[in-house]
Amino acid sequence: MAISDSTIQEIKNRIDIVEVISDFVSLKKVGSNYRALSPFTNEKSPSFYVSPSKDIFKCFSSGKGGDAISFVMEVEGINYIEALKYLANKYGIEVQEEEQTDEQITAQNERDSLFIALKFAGEFFQDVLWNHSEGKSIGLSYFKERGFSEATIKKFDLGYSLDAWDGLMKPALEKGYSEEILEKAGLILNSENKTYDRFRGRVMFPIHNVGGKVIAFGARTLRKDKKQPKYINSPETVVYHKSDIVYGIHQARQAIRNEDLCYLVEGYTDVISMHQSGVQNVVSSSGTSLTKEQIRLIGRYTKNITVLYDGDAAGIKASFRGIDLILEHDLDVHAVVFPEGEDPDSFSRSMSSEAFQQFLKDNAQDFITFKTNILTEGGKNIDPVKKVAVIRDVVESISLIPDGIKRSVYIKSCADLLEIDEQVLISELNKILIKNRKKDKQHDERESAVDEQLANSLQAKQEEQPGYTPFYVERECLRMVINYANEPFDEHQKIGEFILNETVDLKFDDPLINETISKASEFIRAGKKVEPDMFIGPDHPKMSQLVIDLLDMKYFISDGWEELHKISTSHEKEDLPKATYKVILRLKRKKIEEMIHHNEELLKKSSIANEQDELLLMIKHLKTLFDQVTTELGIVVSK
Ligand code: UTP
Ligand code: MN
Repeated sequence: MAISDSTIQEIKNRIDIVEVISDFVSLKKVGSNYRALSPFTNEKSPSFYVSPSKDIFKCFSSGKGGDAISFVMEVEGINYIEALKYLANKYGIEVQEEEQTDEQITAQNERDSLFIALKFAGEFFQDVLWNHSEGKSIGLSYFKERGFSEATIKKFDLGYSLDAWDGLMKPALEKGYSEEILEKAGLILNSENKTYDRFRGRVMFPIHNVGGKVIAFGARTLRKDKKQPKYINSPETVVYHKSDIVYGIHQARQAIRNEDLCYLVEGYTDVISMHQSGVQNVVSSSGTSLTKEQIRLIGRYTKNITVLYDGDAAGIKASFRGIDLILEHDLDVHAVVFPEGEDPDSFSRSMSSEAFQQFLKDNAQDFITFKTNILTEGGKNIDPVKKVAVIRDVVESISLIPDGIKRSVYIKSCADLLEIDEQVLISELNKILIKNRKKDKQHDERESAVDEQLANSLQAKQEEQPGYTPFYVERECLRMVINYANEPFDEHQKIGEFILNETVDLKFDDPLINETISKASEFIRAGKKVEPDMFIGPDHPKMSQLVIDLLDMKYFISDGWEELHKISTSHEKEDLPKATYKVILRLKRKKIEEMIHHNEELLKKSSIANEQDELLLMIKHLKTLFDQVTTELGIVVSK
């Protein structure tokens, strides 16, 4: 099904871009706009802007930009229809659907069908837990014995799967879900032509995506029998990529943003118990080491992670690699170790929530200190040979931190901890940094070799390096139109009109620029104001991107121009007519240059005397023109 035009319109009318983007990044108000660290890169100073008045965002570090819908598409990695549905859901808009073509149906349907089947399964498991005798006596009583309140059980949509081969499959088939979809959703298994439920006689922990859709399940056995794995989890499916998601992110994201901190625990039950103790900014890696996608996901909400370790965690050392990955992504990491034999789940239940929260605050150690202590067994490990290995290991971690100031702070505290000359650590650090830089460089070179192959067309090259293309002056011209069309040029005309008049008989070589300028001309001729959002939309992604690329910071910054002194366009505002005139002169000069070149080529090929004379005359004329424009440009530039 496709979404009807009226629904799309309603969604568009209701969207508040700041509200939408706030669900993913923490925006700070700057003047009339909002700013944040880019969710798309690892930048250190914020260059991601949202303009509520223009209804657009622009990320100056990745170059991405667009409206609220394209933001959701980008950040969630979903398509246009899915993004619309997400927004409809967010704003409680009922989606009216229209018939689709067969092709559209197949493309769209599979993911949707999986979501619907998973939703059904989640609701079914909950229904069994609360209403079915087996669910109540086994599942619900288990959760209650563990100390989960009814509110907590509901908050996490916990459920129970019947101890039967078709407990879920039977009602699902009756409801019209196909075996194929149930299998693709990871809910049923098929072996030797028999199909049966994957989850049987287990308590069910649904795993939600950021937006709150069920995408998978973790299922815990209630049997003591050691042959059974304690947890059975959904397999990878079209909608569930284990390495992209952390458990609890949907329930935690608001709190993570508010607290500007994310606790990271190992298990489902740790997450749930901590919520019940009033700590809601917590997610679980579900027993595996962190991936960079998971770190990026958390990094959208905060740059601070505190890892919580079980008291008997034999796995602390094994977790170091994952933590290095967090450091590398420029997030700050702390660690808390629970007392012997306790995990966040048991410990949080053993005391009041105030005491638990205080414990977390009191026991957080910065990660480098923590790691040093663990490796030296609290300073006891003084065997010199081991000490060298420890130093190397810790400095290796420090070298991953992108921020130089942070690195030197850690080097200092490390030197104190290990009772070693700071200078020794610094030179060790530098060695590693140089080694890594070489690696990076090789990497870059390899990448650019690949790029070279791809960029065989002029078009591709142009997209790669915006400022230095043969179409540079054309882009500049369009940039003036997009940003300043409505400003006065002189007492008779606006900048948009001036540019239009000067370029009516010019053809822009870049077809996309040509098309965009024509579109702008229509608006200008009709006496309308030119606004960036006129060009931005899903019908024309290339034009949207181009316009976003050319959009000036002025749309995003109302104060703090100084901090942007590096941006070359910041001075042109002092004299916009002059800047416009300059751009037009450059464009003309470029066009004349092209014509001279063209005529010279013709001249080379020509063997007719008459024609040669004519061409020579033409070239001479063009060269005079060229010189005139150059002189004019020189006067304008130096004025
Ligand atoms: P734990 O064994 O600590 O489980 O494994 P838990 O969640 O604390 O459960 P309780 O407290 O014993 O009931 C931590 C996480 O590792 C994953 C699960 O995500 C679990 O939450 N795990 C563990 C598995 O995926 N499979 C297993 O067999 C065991
Ligand atoms: Mn546990």
